Amino acid sequence: MASYAKGLEGVVAAHTSMSFIDGEKGILEYVGIPIGELASNSSFEETVFLLWNGRLPKHGELDEFSHKIRSRYAMSPALEARLMALPKKAEPMHVMRTLVSSLGLDDARPDVTDVPEVREKALTVLSLVPTILAGFHRYRQGKPLIKPDSNLPLAENFLYMLNGQRPTPTMAKAMDVCLILHADHGLNNSTFSARVVVSTMSDVYSALTAAIGSLRGPLHGGANEGVMVMLNAIPSVADVEKFIQAKLEHKDKIMGFGHRVYRAYDPRASHLKVLAKQLAHDTGNSALYEKSAKIEEIMLREKAAKGIYPNVDFYSATTYHCIGLPLDLFTPCFVLSRVGGWSGHILEQLSDNRLFRPSADYTGPHDVRYTPMNKR
Ligand code: CMC
Repeated sequence: MASYAKGLEGVVAAHTSMSFIDGEKGILEYVGIPIGELASNSSFEETVFLLWNGRLPKHGELDEFSHKIRSRYAMSPALEARLMALPKKAEPMHVMRTLVSSLGLDDARPDVTDVPEVREKALTVLSLVPTILAGFHRYRQGKPLIKPDSNLPLAENFLYMLNGQRPTPTMAKAMDVCLILHADHGLNNSTFSARVVVSTMSDVYSALTAAIGSLRGPLHGGANEGVMVMLNAIPSVADVEKFIQAKLEHKDKIMGFGHRVYRAYDPRASHLKVLAKQLAHDTGNSALYEKSAKIEEIMLREKAAKGIYPNVDFYSATTYHCIGLPLDLFTPCFVLSRVGGWSGHILEQLSDNRLFRPSADYTGPHDVRYTPMNKR
């Protein structure tokens, strides 16, 4: 018997061996490894290898995998020309969606669904998205594009291409940790979107494009920008209480809080909180961190009993700001990371595919006679 679950809450719709979430206990593991351990010890490249292969790489394997990624950083002339033809005022998430979609045009065999070949295509997308994002940001500012440096890891190379200078080791590490923490998260909305698309045996570019479209929504990845907008709207720590109370009285959602799965502190948020505090101190943004901490204090007082805690987007906003990223690049940075998770899920779906095709509960009328136009 079919049952209805609004928003598919509680419905298990796929098998995955990538990430495990215990929402009651606040646990997130990638292939069994607690997320905090990966954030402390791993790199983004190693994390993607782990997600795609179900195990950590050996030394030579990581070098080979990283080398492959770095060798694909550069945009083709055709892609660069498409980027330079975009309106400078375009919102970066629209740019990401449009240009990732366009990568299918450069592929001689875009429709292949053979897993090893799709993996190669996904690796190319993973390598290119930082170049696309940094390139668009410089282009819209009227600055020359910076060629990627294939000696640098993905996170560091992204900041280098964005700013035209090498980031400090602290900033490069912070960016890398953000990418690790955002890489995968069960059957979240964008991942589900990617799996739904590829389950029709459509192509990897269409699946990733759909996922980007899903991620940009303010209830999903777009929340990190919403958090920053909120922080900017609060003049000082002293104004936080009044601001949050007014929002709660209006039944407004506070961005960066709540989660469909977690009823406890999101483990990614705990890690990002520590990172945000340190970076805020180092970059003279302590007031921003203090505002965030005050919002958390109020929300825990008011909403923890309902299971509403900070989620990944809450402290990632302060973290990205301290790294020096402009507000409208926050959600695209989520893309840079989640392409790893989406692609892993696309590979899992293709490995054991069944078309997603749920049912809808029809709530309209029956046996209605057709009314001619002149009688309506
Ligand atoms: N602020 C205030 N109240 C909240 C919040 C919030 N951020 N989140 C949930 N609630 C309340 C909500 O008003 C509702 O209350 P009531 O039962 O009195 O009507 C109750 O909690 C259940 O909320 P819901 O929206 O039905 O729950 P959901 O499981 O559909 O929502 C959510 C999950 C993430 C969409 C929601 O918590 C939300 O909108 N949060 C703000 C946006 C956000 O931070 N999104 C990022 C999610 S994590 C990263 C990612 O996945 O991209």
